[in-house]
Amino acid sequence: MRERLLAAEKVKAIEWQEGQLRLLDQRRLPLEEVWSAYDSAAAVATAIAEMVVRGAPAIGISAAYGLTLALRDRLAEGGDWRAALEADYKRLADSRPTAVNLFWALNQMRERLDRLKPGEDPYAAAEAQAVSIHASDREANLTMAQYGVDVIRKHQGSPQNLLTHCNTGALATGGFGTALGVIRAAHLEGLVERVYADETRPWLQGSRLTAWELAGEGVPVTLNADSSAAHLMKSRGITWVIVGADRITANGDVANKIGTYQLAVLAMHHGVRFMVVAPSSTIDMALESGEEIPIEERAGSELLEVNGQRFAAEVDAFNPVFDVTPADLIDVIVTEKGVVERPSKAKLTALMSRKWLH
Ligand code: MRU
Repeated sequence: MRERLLAAEKVKAIEWQEGQLRLLDQRRLPLEEVWSAYDSAAAVATAIAEMVVRGAPAIGISAAYGLTLALRDRLAEGGDWRAALEADYKRLADSRPTAVNLFWALNQMRERLDRLKPGEDPYAAAEAQAVSIHASDREANLTMAQYGVDVIRKHQGSPQNLLTHCNTGALATGGFGTALGVIRAAHLEGLVERVYADETRPWLQGSRLTAWELAGEGVPVTLNADSSAAHLMKSRGITWVIVGADRITANGDVANKIGTYQLAVLAMHHGVRFMVVAPSSTIDMALESGEEIPIEERAGSELLEVNGQRFAAEVDAFNPVFDVTPADLIDVIVTEKGVVERPSKAKLTALMSRKWLH
């Protein structure tokens, strides 16, 4: 299947070219495909905060390249580059709070720079580490796609109606996608009748990004309002909800795009299976439960305005952009290290102790 998946790779969101980071501006999709170049950590941190690049793995990869750019600047300044780099770690880490992949990637960079051998070029080591974080995410996507398809096939071998939320595809990762990677692979295997994509207010990652990715690949996709999920589950024969994650805690609770929790409650009520697909870099064993996950709240204007034009009444708006789905509503978590059914701390601890060789 790997070869078929690689042949289907069309879209990418992140490129590292001759010491420069290039990002596809996801705020302008699908109307325009605009790439911009970034050559400092500050610019990368702003791009993450302002959603030029989004999606947990993509944020982590971009931050790793951002730190590489920072190191180049710090080395050029002379002096104590390790001390100076602390401000860059912080600036990048402060860009968004919920997706743990950001902090995971920055830690990977720090650990690599802590292991420098005498005489080793710090910039070359950092660049190679960032490239490797990017490449392993791509590999993890391919492995998860295979595992996720096996899970779907185990339950039913006929084409399925699937529901997904937000964007978890090539745009959100370093490769094929997490939840959308499983969906794309299931389509290639003839297991998809139709994908229902929640529009995903307020940023519309579903209508602007997921629908664009799936339509571009010829996957049958129908867009629906987020609030139609219960009706869809009752009337359209949905068998699986398949979503990604921004942080999974030790007990199996899952933070993902706002609206995911209500899908899990609805899925339980309607007897629809619920699958979370995420690389192990999304699992945060340092947090016991979802209660401890910092939930990003963005500006109320994202709810009150469209294209800078106010349409809502003069009131305050509450705009949390993630929520936490409790572990007991989740049927299966698919990672590149393996599949965990009915997640628990014991199962996730065992999973995280596995080595993954690709
Ligand atoms: O605010 P976003 O667009 O960064 O939120 C993205 C999500 O919630 C995704 O579902 C999650 O990051 C997984 S992406 C593979």
